Amino acid sequence: MILVTGGAGFIGSNFILEWLAQLDEAVVNLDKLTYAGNLQNLALLSDNAYHIFVRGDIGDNELVSKLLIQYQPRAVINLAAESHVDRSISGPGAFIHTNIVGTFQLLEAVNTYWQSLHGTQKGDFRFLHVSTDEVYGSLNQHEAAFTEKHRYQPSSPYSASKAGSDHLVNAYHRTHGLPTLITNCSNNYGPYQFPEKLIPLMIVNALSGKSLPIYGDGMQIRDWLHVSDHCTALRRVLEAGKPGETYNIGGRNEKTNIEVVQTICALLQKLHESDKVSDYSKLITFVKDRPGHDRRYAIDARKIECELDWEPTETFESGVRKTIGWYLDNLNWVTDIQTGEYRQWIEQHYGPDIDENITVR
Ligand code: NAD
Ligand code: DAU
Repeated sequence: MILVTGGAGFIGSNFILEWLAQLDEAVVNLDKLTYAGNLQNLALLSDNAYHIFVRGDIGDNELVSKLLIQYQPRAVINLAAESHVDRSISGPGAFIHTNIVGTFQLLEAVNTYWQSLHGTQKGDFRFLHVSTDEVYGSLNQHEAAFTEKHRYQPSSPYSASKAGSDHLVNAYHRTHGLPTLITNCSNNYGPYQFPEKLIPLMIVNALSGKSLPIYGDGMQIRDWLHVSDHCTALRRVLEAGKPGETYNIGGRNEKTNIEVVQTICALLQKLHESDKVSDYSKLITFVKDRPGHDRRYAIDARKIECELDWEPTETFESGVRKTIGWYLDNLNWVTDIQTGEYRQWIEQHYGPDIDENITVR
């Protein structure tokens, strides 16, 4: 079995759903259920005995150590994090707590567990840390895309905290020999993404006839990857990645923010006739820029493509079309977030804090 952290979030839930759709290997899912954690993302697994959910913090060394001894996973995939740049500007504390201190505590527990293993169990064990291209900072329009050797130059408290976690992971490999793998991925989009990030926010706002806020001039560039392609890459790195190595993951889909939002508006125009909105693009509104806003990210994915034979399957156009389709088919999921219903469900089942670590199957 494997232990996944942050499995009730956007990428984590997609990763677990795809894992269990393809493999007969159980997953222990450790998630704190912050505002970004939503067990409705995993509703399809409610009767699946291969999914073992535990509410808890990656920074809780005692809990993580207990889970490692109890379940003896062959790998830990660390997706738990505070992930939204805007929130890291207004409230960086949680980012330091989870992304740096939490990763450190997780590494401590995992390293102790790994040191206690023997033979192939020890040799085959992997710790996969899921990180971001934002650790490399901002590129100008003419600079080459980020390779794994690019200097770390984070701009926001979020990216600085992810950079800190990457350094800790590499240090545990160098110092203790822990068989770690790091992936640095570009912007993801797809089903179950919390509607605070650009693509789901634009879809959800457009559907309600609300304004579509574009920061600054909207000419910032991101390199978009459908979440299912990210999940395939993570499985491939876990299977064949070399311990101690980093792999950049990206979709070769560089788009300006304004292009992204215009594409969404044009697709909605075709896919969803609305009595509220005659022209979705009229909802676009330019607003004050994000402080420290990185201008451009771009991933050079040649290492994972050549060494691990991975490549994305979705183009931006096909992926965004599917994503809009998913949101249109899952308006209840959106409504439960907007009304706070999903939090009420969590509080009813787990209480408002995480002192009690209740395990559910
Ligand atoms: P998310 O915010 O949707 O989900 C994060 C999950 O982690 C939530 O379920 C949350 O409850 C959980 N969590 C937070 N703090 C925790 C803690 N202390 N202990 C246990 N669980 C905790 O994030 P996401 O977009 O799914 O990103 C997952 C990972 O991938 C993050 O590490 C992020 O940095 C990285 N990443 C994200 C993207 C992207 O575009 N979304 C791109 C590259 C890398
Ligand atoms: O690059 C990978 C990273 O991508 C991940 O590590 C982060 O977890 C993830 O949140 C994402 O970070 P970004 O800051 O790039 O994503 P976000 O969706 O917040 O913003 C994408 C771009 O759109 C960015 O240039 C800011 C802009 N934006 C965003 C929002 C929410 C707007 O113009 N308006 C908005 O309302």
